[in-house]
Amino acid sequence: MDQLTHLLERRSIRRFKPEPLREGDLERILAAARRAPTDASAQLYSILRVTDPQLRRELAHLAGDQAHVAEAAEFFVPLADVHRLERLLAHRGQAMAHWPRTGLHFALVDATLAGAHLAVAAEALGYGICWIGGLLNRPAEVARLLELPRGVVPVSGLVVGVPDEDPAPRPRLPEALVVHENRYRTYTPADLDAAYAAMAPASRRGDWLFVLERYFARGGTMEQRDPAYGFLAARQGFVADWPPEAAEALFVRGHDAGSLGEALEALLGHGWRGVLFGRGPFEESVVWLEHETAAERGEGKTPGEALGRAVEAALPTEE
Ligand SMILES: Cc1cc2nc3c(=O)[nH]c(=O)nc-3n(C[C@H](O)[C@H](O)[C@H](O)COP(=O)(O)O)c2cc1C
Repeated sequence: MDQLTHLLERRSIRRFKPEPLREGDLERILAAARRAPTDASAQLYSILRVTDPQLRRELAHLAGDQAHVAEAAEFFVPLADVHRLERLLAHRGQAMAHWPRTGLHFALVDATLAGAHLAVAAEALGYGICWIGGLLNRPAEVARLLELPRGVVPVSGLVVGVPDEDPAPRPRLPEALVVHENRYRTYTPADLDAAYAAMAPASRRGDWLFVLERYFARGGTMEQRDPAYGFLAARQGFVADWPPEAAEALFVRGHDAGSLGEALEALLGHGWRGVLFGRGPFEESVVWLEHETAAERGEGKTPGEALGRAVEAALPTEE
């Protein structure tokens, strides 16, 4: 099959034969992934290949008991990764600048491109693939299981194997709704009806709204995932004003605080009746946390760092 036909006819595969990849194919697929374009030659990604069956089972469970994560021939986790870049700079005596937001953006782009190349290469060789976003149900646990250092977050999972099903292609939105010319065209009610009509077969009940609301409306899975992802991003060092240690300190008390604002909300709801910010004699940030009977002080380069230190002092670490 030529490359374009294979792209036009691809679909996700979720049932696999208990067979490994043919000899040499793993290397070819990984070589294709590593040829993906990358901003500034930086290659801000890693690909984690999970071969330990027990680990595969645990990840399958964390991903919402998706059997194909354990059963497919291969399971990869493309990782957004600025850790290696930091090590490379340090190795030659340079300190990495502080650019957590763009770092996350560019690393996610690089990792997604590498993962997409891996997937397309595998499909070109006749394998089936399926991305596993369910891995982000509990991303901090995934990061702990995979021992991801600071500066690294999982993008998604990716199963690859020999297909044992031949599903019908799933629908897509009409071209006119996703391709804009020159300027972004806002959607008319008729456009939105056309979108629902085209996507109706995506739902067993014949209405795409059931799918959209389950994921994206109030009470849906994305709303539940968001605090956990915020905590992951903070703990892995990708939130500008909220240091990883502070995020961790609140996490052990049961709070997914992924931002300074969420931290304040958690602290005030936790019996701390006041949080005072100020400047010390050397322009450092100072934070006082006040309780009924106690006060704790923290210092740092930024208010977030100072608050983090105060949180660490104020909240005992639970075993
Ligand atoms: C980032 C991402 C995460 C996904 N997560 C899952 C998943 O956890 N489980 C699953 O069975 N399919 C998952 N999928 C596959 C989508 O359901 C699938 O791509 C979509 O329904 C379109 O179907 P098609 O790929 O067969 O065209 C994921 C796809 C992407 C791109």
